[in-house]
Amino acid sequence: MIDKQYLIFDWYSENKRNLPWRSVKDPYYIWLSEIILQQTKVDQGLPYYLKFIKCYPNVKSLAAADLESVLKLWQGLGYYSRARNLHSAAKQVMTDFGGVFPDNYDSLLSLKGVGEYTAAAVSSFAYGEAKAVVDGNVFRVLSRLFKIATPINSTKGKKEFTILANEILDKSQPGEHNQAMMELGALVCKPKSPQCEICPVQGICLAFADKTQLDYPVKEKK
Ligand code: ADE
Repeated sequence: MIDKQYLIFDWYSENKRNLPWRSVKDPYYIWLSEIILQQTKVDQGLPYYLKFIKCYPNVKSLAAADLESVLKLWQGLGYYSRARNLHSAAKQVMTDFGGVFPDNYDSLLSLKGVGEYTAAAVSSFAYGEAKAVVDGNVFRVLSRLFKIATPINSTKGKKEFTILANEILDKSQPGEHNQAMMELGALVCKPKSPQCEICPVQGICLAFADKTQLDYPVKEKK
């Protein structure tokens, strides 16, 4: 855990956005929200999430839908492979898991379109499994807090940040921890205009200490 982790929790409980997938524990809803939000901002993804849960309120109904209808509902979101994978994964849940959503990180990884990020998100939010999510927000927050200059788009960087994120994960409340880290990155520790003046962990941020926050995260030119 980070020293003074409670500062992030306190900030999160007072400032978090009220998002519908945050008040549910059903892995189907959480998975759906995470697939929609993979390459999409919250404001854009939210209406799609609402449409999907209305049209397909459970994994069985999504699996039974025809692909064309799913793609039609997805229209406007882009990256259509996500919608194809969504549909395939729903069918997989029916055939490989007897219609019950897989309940741990390793089994989640076997679903089409579910990588390490999504498996960590679903397993920690729905089941409280101690897996750290490492997305763009988390890369940014950690690289600044600890002044880590390893490029985030390198294999070495991905490994290093994943290890660190899991080391500092609050194992007693991994879901809340993950949400709080992502929210801090989305609302305060922003890419171009971080709002350090209101940041709850300004006092322990190594980059803020020497005003180098805009130098992080480091990306390798490819
Ligand atoms: N972006 C990706 N996953 C998210 C989540 N669970 N809450 C807010 N933004 C997100």
